[in-house]
Amino acid sequence: MEFNIALLKGDGIGPEIVDSAVAVLEKTADKFGHKFNFTPYLIGGCAIDATGMPLPQETVDGCLASDSVLLGAVGGPKWDDLAGDIRPEKALLGIRSALGLYTNLRPAKLYPALRAASPLKDEIVGGGFDILIVRELTGGIYFGDRGFREGRYGHEAYDTEAYSVTEIERIGRAAFEAAVKRSKRLCSIDKANVLETSRLWRKTTHKLAEEYPEVSYTDMFVDNAAMQLVRDPRQFDVIVTSNMFGDILSDEASQITGSIGMLASASLGASKRGLYEPIHGSAPDIAGKNIANPIATILSGAMMLRYSFGLAKEADAIEAAVDKVLNDGCRTTDLMGTDKGTPLTCTEMTKRILEVL
Ligand code: IPM
Ligand code: MG
Repeated sequence: MEFNIALLKGDGIGPEIVDSAVAVLEKTADKFGHKFNFTPYLIGGCAIDATGMPLPQETVDGCLASDSVLLGAVGGPKWDDLAGDIRPEKALLGIRSALGLYTNLRPAKLYPALRAASPLKDEIVGGGFDILIVRELTGGIYFGDRGFREGRYGHEAYDTEAYSVTEIERIGRAAFEAAVKRSKRLCSIDKANVLETSRLWRKTTHKLAEEYPEVSYTDMFVDNAAMQLVRDPRQFDVIVTSNMFGDILSDEASQITGSIGMLASASLGASKRGLYEPIHGSAPDIAGKNIANPIATILSGAMMLRYSFGLAKEADAIEAAVDKVLNDGCRTTDLMGTDKGTPLTCTEMTKRILEVL
């Protein structure tokens, strides 16, 4: 089969890790007799430097014309002082929104081989955990009304959170469908003791739960969830939550797997076209040093094959290759934990994965 993939390498370590994922996708295409055509577009800080805008229209059009999108990361200190609406991060929100990608799947699983890199004790982690965070991606406070005004204490800034029943239903449905395919446990996380949006969220998801009697459904307040994730992560299977809570909890979940450098994500909407990216950022401190962990981006490529192209055995092959190299003891700097020895560079780790494929 032939697919067109838009590449948004972005900033910082973005280009290094996307190059690794492209090498793995190309090798997979060769092995299974497919053809992937890659077209690069600018996004984030590099787009600001070249065009003055973080998300040029050409990039949006290119993504819309592609079968799927692979993204590295955006942002860096160089662009940190820009106004909110022309910051690199705005481009990320913009492309997710322009492509209608309201469902963000963020799997957080503990690889047995990386046990030593997880900060949690053995008795907590036991046989490991495998959590799927379903984050709402195009609504809530990241997209609400915002601005500056004069308030009770003088000049103030504000951001607002709004969620419609329609938005809650569609993300809720995506989460229930995911739960049906897994262990049939779903926990919805909100702050319904304080927020009106959370109360509507809870009411709407409860109603949806009636359509999925086979799913055991619970709700939890987000502050408690943050604590439960480190106290007993194995109690969770699928989690569904709002844009901001999902952003925060997915970073927490990644850290207990050992490294944020391992977590892939898929952003999906109503069509097959998705955007696939590691959940970590552009890591400007290590950019250009060839020490970034490419695995989150490589696994994001595998998710693309699975969710957008329906190529399950190809995705399995990439995931198995990652498993194998980890079991063989391959580690980038972030995965060293208490291990001694010399970590692999980004290109060395990629090479090992390519050899196994
Ligand atoms: C993420 C990132 C982004 C987000 C930022 C960079 C805009 O933190 O993908 O989790 O908040 O969605
Ligand atoms: Mg984040």
